[in-house]
Amino acid sequence: MSELLDILRREIRLQGPITLARYMDICLAHSDHGYYPKQDPLGRAGDFTTAPEISQMFGELIGLWAGVVWQQMGQPSAVNLVELGPGRGTLMADALRAASIVPSFPDAIAIHLVEISPALRAVQAEALAAHGPAWHDNDTTLPAGPLIIIANEFFDALPILQFERRASLWHERLVGLAEDGQLCFVLSPPQSTNPMVPDSHKNAPDGTIVEVCPAAWNIVARLADAVGQHGGGALIIDYGHDGRRAGDTFQAVKDHRFHPPFEMPGEVDLTAHVDFGALASAANTLSTIAYGPLAQGPFLEALGIRERADVLMKEVPAALRDEIRSALARLTGTEEMGALFKVMAIARSDTPPPPGFEVA
Ligand SMILES: C[S@@+](CC[C@H](N)C(=O)[O-])C[C@H]1O[C@@H](n2cnc3c(N)ncnc32)[C@H](O)[C@@H]1O
Repeated sequence: MSELLDILRREIRLQGPITLARYMDICLAHSDHGYYPKQDPLGRAGDFTTAPEISQMFGELIGLWAGVVWQQMGQPSAVNLVELGPGRGTLMADALRAASIVPSFPDAIAIHLVEISPALRAVQAEALAAHGPAWHDNDTTLPAGPLIIIANEFFDALPILQFERRASLWHERLVGLAEDGQLCFVLSPPQSTNPMVPDSHKNAPDGTIVEVCPAAWNIVARLADAVGQHGGGALIIDYGHDGRRAGDTFQAVKDHRFHPPFEMPGEVDLTAHVDFGALASAANTLSTIAYGPLAQGPFLEALGIRERADVLMKEVPAALRDEIRSALARLTGTEEMGALFKVMAIARSDTPPPPGFEVA
């Protein structure tokens, strides 16, 4: 039995079923046995591959996006370039290389990385050694000042709560123990209403499952507040939807395949689709506007990914051209990441729309 399973069973036996958010938090972030703190799960040999690991084009375009946002801010002499959940540091390294062509931008940048994983911090330290990043356990310790925030596949890893409608009443879906000691979903006692269930779903038909992610709302609200106060922008990229659709998106992945989410806790990646509608509600304030979400494919095309691919193909030996073509198709294709992944931006209401969102 894994040590994490033992910890979970003990907690549930002691205090009863736990929320799904608590389950995700223990599995993903437990300091000794959590999925992220103990390892680098990215890449072909790991459990999943992200856009920056597919092609340098992804990070390069985001670096140029950040450069234009900095120009739109009036080119402050100091700006914090923040990445939430930077993985291997690949996106940031590619972004900084591309952004070096924006005059004076590199001299203005201080890099701040929000990362819970000591294992991944070590990989990031190597990838970004030349740039002297500072690390944070969470966004609350970021320094005050103008900031540009990037988050790719970060919000899907944050803990969610689930609610299920039965006989016109709401129950929370909790994690408990079956008679044989296996982890399983159990339902809380019924409630006629639940403050967490959004108004748009509160009279949903029986059988509806609704997910909410208060951790994500809180982070986005703090980021929007910082952008409103100090100037800047944020770019959030993830798989998700606009919030109008209810449904169960909680999933586990191991070795690039879906996996039962209650088997092998701490050994599988746990995620849920991001509700961009809810994030936009948290980001729309008196001084900030949420743009999007747009589909990733059209967004990258608006930033010039096809033109960048053409340039790269001319620079590399013929044998590598297929790799670039296939990366382009993976990042933009509607059957691949181009439609499932969405992009949302936050900017101050007194600045122009950020690149890619001009007509959004
Ligand atoms: C799916 S990976 C994405 C990595 C990278 N952004 C990329 O696109 O390759 C999720 C990243 O977020 C980090 N992470 C997960 N939960 C976190 C949390 N609650 N706070 C800070 N970082 C977290 C992980 O350690 C990892 O670096």
